[in-house]
Amino acid sequence: LASIEFDLTKVQEGQQVVIKWQGKPVFVRYRTPAELQKVITEGAVGSPPQTDAERTKSGHEKYLVVVGSCTHLGCVPTFGAGDYGGWFCPCHGSHYDASGRIRKGPAPLNLVVPDYEYTSDTRVKIG
Ligand code: FES
Repeated sequence: LASIEFDLTKVQEGQQVVIKWQGKPVFVRYRTPAELQKVITEGAVGSPPQTDAERTKSGHEKYLVVVGSCTHLGCVPTFGAGDYGGWFCPCHGSHYDASGRIRKGPAPLNLVVPDYEYTSDTRVKIG
């Protein structure tokens, strides 16, 4: 199956749920107001430089959906760790922010935002 649907009521504020999509982990993160404020006010950062708005859907900014695969060599980054409050990759020390943008370490690129859409306020279809 190319796409899957996810019920957003399963993810609590400040947490993430990991789902499998096409053999890869996908992180669905419900960001706190403080996390959101931080990533928005930072503007365009990461590689390539992106604003948080470029990585989320309008009206649903509290949720971030990214492929949970480090862009260095593909390890699964650890939630809520690292210097930027997003994820930390334990394999070689890459730090991502709460928008999944690479901020420090060997990973060359931001965490990938897959194709997805909201089918309602509480459901998202990935792929
Ligand atoms: Fe993540 Fe190397 S695989 S830093």
